[in-house]
Amino acid sequence: MRTIVILISGRGSNMQAIIRAAQNEKWPVKIAAVISNRADASGLRHAAEQGIPAIVVPHKDYTTRDAFDSALQSRIDEFAPDLLVLAGFMRVLTPRFVAHYAGRMLNIHPSLLPSFTGLATHRQALAAGVKIHGATVHFVTADLDHGPIVSQTSVSVLPDDTEETLAARVLEQEHIIYPQAIRSFIEGRLSLVDGVACIATDKVEPSADS
Ligand code: GAR
Repeated sequence: MRTIVILISGRGSNMQAIIRAAQNEKWPVKIAAVISNRADASGLRHAAEQGIPAIVVPHKDYTTRDAFDSALQSRIDEFAPDLLVLAGFMRVLTPRFVAHYAGRMLNIHPSLLPSFTGLATHRQALAAGVKIHGATVHFVTADLDHGPIVSQTSVSVLPDDTEETLAARVLEQEHIIYPQAIRSFIEGRLSLVDGVACIATDKVEPSADS
């Protein structure tokens, strides 16, 4: 049984997709806690309704990034997670925090990295006139939005797309690829080899007559 902790800052729709997949697909996993840096994150309620401890560590209570990250790390480590999942967690993390979870912290970013790092990715994509946009699951490193890529999904950008319509189509895809990536980590199929993320496919058992 693996243990994961999920960090959110807002509505937590990716968190919900992960909880749903873990339940429906009977992952050998305990979602030990959902932690938010904002008390008004609506995703917290959903986590609590699922019986998952929903915890707030308000970043505003700390004067430095380091102090907040230390407090956050202490709360997370009470649960000794095998994997830390960032699901719309909108804080830049200190190198020390990132190093502590090296190789066991995943993030989803709403663009086809390395394009459109940072915020307002859908606006950036529309402004650039790209025809294909998407989302990326990656390991978190100290280099913001540049960790080893685990998986990506793409959507076509339509001529009449707005930020909202594009964001909605990308989000739908996020809800598919993020649970898949987490599942592969939990099953021990996701590894980092020389800084490159590799996913082993399911073993196919040979049939009796082959
Ligand atoms: C998602 O689109 C996620 O990719 C993005 O925030 C949204 C959170 O939605 N994350 C980032 O921009 C991280 N840089 P959710 O709270 O409904 O999962």
